[in-house]
Amino acid sequence: MSTLLRDFWYIAMPGKNLKVGQLVGKKMLGDPILVGRREDGQVFAMRDICPHRGIPLHHGWIEGDGVCCCYHGWKFNTEDGKCSHIPSMTEYDKLDIQRIQVQSYPCREVQGNIWVYIPEDFKRGINELELPSVPIIPGFGESLPHISETLHFACHIDHAVIGLMDPAHGPFVHTSWWWRSGPRKFRVKEKLYEPIRQGFRLVPYDMPVSAKPYKLLGNNISIEIIFELPSVRTEILRGDRYQACSFTTVTPIDETQCEVHQSLYWTIPWMGMFKPILRSLTLQFLGQDRDVVIKQQEGLVYNPSLMLIDDADTQAKWYYRLKQEYSLSQQENRPFKNPIDARVLRWRS
Ligand code: FES
Ligand SMILES: [Fe+2]
Repeated sequence: MSTLLRDFWYIAMPGKNLKVGQLVGKKMLGDPILVGRREDGQVFAMRDICPHRGIPLHHGWIEGDGVCCCYHGWKFNTEDGKCSHIPSMTEYDKLDIQRIQVQSYPCREVQGNIWVYIPEDFKRGINELELPSVPIIPGFGESLPHISETLHFACHIDHAVIGLMDPAHGPFVHTSWWWRSGPRKFRVKEKLYEPIRQGFRLVPYDMPVSAKPYKLLGNNISIEIIFELPSVRTEILRGDRYQACSFTTVTPIDETQCEVHQSLYWTIPWMGMFKPILRSLTLQFLGQDRDVVIKQQEGLVYNPSLMLIDDADTQAKWYYRLKQEYSLSQQENRPFKNPIDARVLRWRS
């Protein structure tokens, strides 16, 4: 049985990576998916397999409101995937080409990322009006990210997600000469978490004023971190002058690999000049997470039993409980009931 959660929106790629007229073939949750951008800027997604002879459609091209296959030129509408033209047909052919259809996936571009909805079952049909809304960062309107990076992780999505919420690896994995160098000073952290929709959040609290880089946002800086299924982590820093957000999601490629997408948003007008530095720091940070899961894979091939300890791994435990409850609620066809209770977590890091 698959351990990947369907009936969710996942990021296919940052919007900036898909030019007008471009087609990209992706694998998402094991499905071959074509993502494209039409001349009018509209994004779309469909199954990346031509129903004629199975060649991936990303080898073809976009023509108006359709995608043409590179092999025999069949054309498929980008909205509903229906075949609209077969060049080889003559007026003597009786084939009803409208009945030939490529499965299309709901696709939206929101706050600078392209999201694709991966349904559990196409046979049930997809009612666009009944879909859950695409995850959105509150308070950032239609903002585009100033930085968005994607990294390939050679691990199951669960290990990448747990890495995002694991407070104990920071002092060991995220070390560098400019960040917490020198002898480690571990301190006890004590933070209040509460359930929220299909996830949990660090209840916003005011940061100690001593944290210098945060001063850029003004005074009275508060931090809020939200995690929601399937794999969406939103960290928002709000000051009395500006706000900033780090938005991270994980999209499974299949059961053994995934892509981590990170976007940074801010409202500080002059921050643009620091973009190159921030970009390389983002890559360095994500790269450290990626490198450690590559090392982890060396051990995981032996299928060892693993441990989750309190309170440092409590959020990881919650993640598994949320996943389990989600799968059960789907199977039993009932509303999701958040299994987490509000509680203070304590750890040393
Ligand atoms: S394989 Fe696509 S048109 Fe023939
Ligand atoms: Fe990390």
